[in-house]
Amino acid sequence: MIHIEVNGKRHDLDVSPDMPLLWVIRDYLKLSGTKFGCGMAQCGACTVHVDGEPTRSCVTPVSSVSGKKITTIEGLDASGAGRAVQEAWTAEDVPQCGYCQSGQVMQAAALLAQNPQPTDADIDASLSGNLCRCGTYQRIRKAVHRAAGMMAKGGKR
Ligand code: FES
Ligand code: FES
Repeated sequence: MIHIEVNGKRHDLDVSPDMPLLWVIRDYLKLSGTKFGCGMAQCGACTVHVDGEPTRSCVTPVSSVSGKKITTIEGLDASGAGRAVQEAWTAEDVPQCGYCQSGQVMQAAALLAQNPQPTDADIDASLSGNLCRCGTYQRIRKAVHRAAGMMAKGGKR
């Protein structure tokens, strides 16, 4: 039996210890916001937070995160960086097809939680592993700056 905590809820699962966390999140917990892209830690679509660190869930064995706090896009903070990022994403109309976007949002929220005023170079370095086939990179960068500004003003636009 594997015990994991996802979005503040504990789950006891009878799964193989080697099963990727992404499979558990999508197939067992039915949280479909986290996406499968490459399955090889190359695209960032499956990004979740493990104890606040952005993590590629497609290559993370579920047993390795037992006892840690896992957050998916469904559980991203209603306050702080998570909220600012989601509001900025909407204001900047970032998504096109949307497939990569939960991973982008999770990566950006983790960046802002650690570095509330990132430069363009910081943003590019943090998000370079999150691919977007629709090419929304300029809008992502703008949205991260907007979210940083909102956080600096205490959440106001
Ligand atoms: S699906 Fe995990 S990084 Fe691409
Ligand atoms: S919005 Fe389509 S892949 Fe990024």
